[in-house]
Amino acid sequence: MVENGRRVLSNVIHSQVELHKDFGGVVPELAARDHLERLPGLLDLAFDRARAGPDDIGLVAVTRGPGLAGCLLVGVGVAEGLGASWSRPITGVNHLWGHIYAAMLTRPDLEPPLLGLVVSGAHSDLVRMPEHGQFEVIGRTRDDAAGEAFDKAARVLGLGYPGGPALDRLARTGDPRRQPLQYSFSGLKTALLYRLRDLGDSAGPREKADLAAAFEQSVVESLLEKLDVALSRTPVSDVVVAGGVAANTLLRRRAAEVVAGRARLTMPPLELCTDNAAMIAAAGYYAPAHHTTTVEPSLGWN
Ligand code: KG4
Ligand code: ZN
Repeated sequence: MVENGRRVLSNVIHSQVELHKDFGGVVPELAARDHLERLPGLLDLAFDRARAGPDDIGLVAVTRGPGLAGCLLVGVGVAEGLGASWSRPITGVNHLWGHIYAAMLTRPDLEPPLLGLVVSGAHSDLVRMPEHGQFEVIGRTRDDAAGEAFDKAARVLGLGYPGGPALDRLARTGDPRRQPLQYSFSGLKTALLYRLRDLGDSAGPREKADLAAAFEQSVVESLLEKLDVALSRTPVSDVVVAGGVAANTLLRRRAAEVVAGRARLTMPPLELCTDNAAMIAAAGYYAPAHHTTTVEPSLGWN
């Protein structure tokens, strides 16, 4: 529950990590069913924590996509039910642009125009936001998104699920210079696989930590390279780096260095980087019903 698009009254999250852990990744059917079972209880909790009731609600915002179809269906169904029973309007929000609004919750005076880097499990988008509700995608990864790349690397390094945070932790103990991997997005996963194959039995804990650090560095530098170019081409006073991968330690540090002196950088705190409902509420408040997206990736990641 968010007041006036800026103040978080409550932000309740039920993690499905335990549910999917044994499968090594998200199982869509289980995810959707769990949404259905958990949502009513989560709503009660959100009201309790906000010390609010249905009368206080002015608008219901719900993720419209992108995401897993079954989960989106549950969310939209619940939102429509609530809107009807409370006689309140509903608005559908693009999940990716929701991540940008997490930054608005972080900094009260943050307003467009801004340049955003949204890095989540399934998307890495560089986007210009000239005003509320308008998004121009100027760069987008081709095959794997950053989060997916981290998750897959974590899997081949034997780190289990969820991979991103585990890879982050392991990378902190490694040295990226000892097992250098190429600085480009595509081919990076294959490079990691081949290196592990070549190392064979000699790939011990130290080599794995070094590989995690090298992989992380390649992903982070290739993400920031495009941000750097975009910022040089068209200067802007505010930059936002958001999405689940924006929780990454190296990305946070390097983004601050790359943007320093050229624009103000806002990165949401970790709990607002990964998926949450508060950011969707904020996005719904600022751009009810008419988010527009244009996609012209002049800056691809290859
Ligand atoms: O935005 P998000 O919470 O969910 C999606 O919309 O996909 O992003 C989740 C992604 C996952 O791929 C996860 O591994 C990654 O964010 N992630 C991280 C870290 N924390 C989460 N990747 C690298 N380092 C982290 N610390
Ligand atoms: Zn997300």
